[in-house]
Amino acid sequence: MADGSITDAEFEQAGLRLAVDGPVATITLARPERRNALTFSTWRTLARIGDTLPGDVRVVVVRGEGPAFSAGIDLRLFTAEGVPGEDALGPRDEDFIHGLQAGYLWLRRPEIVSIAAVQGHAIGGGFQLALACDLRVAADDVKFAMKEPALGIVPDLSGTKPLVDIVGVPRALELCLTARTVHAEEAARLGLAELVVPAAELGKAVDDLVAAILAVRPSTAVAVKRLLREAPGNTLEQQAAAERREQVVLLRELSEPS
Ligand code: CAA
Repeated sequence: MADGSITDAEFEQAGLRLAVDGPVATITLARPERRNALTFSTWRTLARIGDTLPGDVRVVVVRGEGPAFSAGIDLRLFTAEGVPGEDALGPRDEDFIHGLQAGYLWLRRPEIVSIAAVQGHAIGGGFQLALACDLRVAADDVKFAMKEPALGIVPDLSGTKPLVDIVGVPRALELCLTARTVHAEEAARLGLAELVVPAAELGKAVDDLVAAILAVRPSTAVAVKRLLREAPGNTLEQQAAAERREQVVLLRELSEPS
């Protein structure tokens, strides 16, 4: 559409729904009959959601409908039959992949906190989508698996960086090359989920987390995320300087008459 808004037909093709309720946007992977398998339309539409998100949204929840968060790429894309309405998967250049990665990368922008609510399988591109979010709340039936190498490809939806940041290089290598499944207890131990709750309580746990985040002043929450995200790349002195920079601004704001 001329104004950049996403049509119902485009959401349908992408297998997505979007609900914006004040400061909270909820993106639902909505193709449960295919375990929320992902297509090029899904990734491109996710990118457009990021581009058109109202500026006052502070929290983005990504959830999956049905028994699985997402079974990853729609495997029909690897077949001659393909997926109706989708490009064929063939040799591709880096610009093409960059366009798909855009669907995930915006979930890390400082202005929002993104939360993946993950139940059941989160495989390949589904696992990477959960990793793209700032936080993961998992149901106790969660099953993470990085299947890409088993299909002859690398994880290329920006998932390798958060995976390594969370579990370290040796564990990431082991998880990717074996494509094995990480269940809830191990996911919590490795830090792949901040919270693991009984499956029936997933929605409530996410709601509580959203409420806690929204209770923090907006500019404070943005500053905290920016500060913590830059910490791994900083020396202690650089990080101390970053803390001072953020704090001076917040203290000035707090002392201004409201
Ligand atoms: N693509 C297309 N269809 C899929 C799908 C997928 N990734 N995963 C599940 N489906 C379909 C099944 O074909 C089945 O369809 P029918 O009812 O028409 O037969 C339906 O969803 C339900 O699936 P199951 O009966 O298998 O459901 P289950 O709950 O018993 O098992 C599952 C769920 C473990 C996720 C299993 O379906 C599975 O292993 N799926 C494939 C997972 C996979 O290998 N994904 C690729 C990851 S790599 C990747 O994602 C690369 C990338 O991003 C670039």
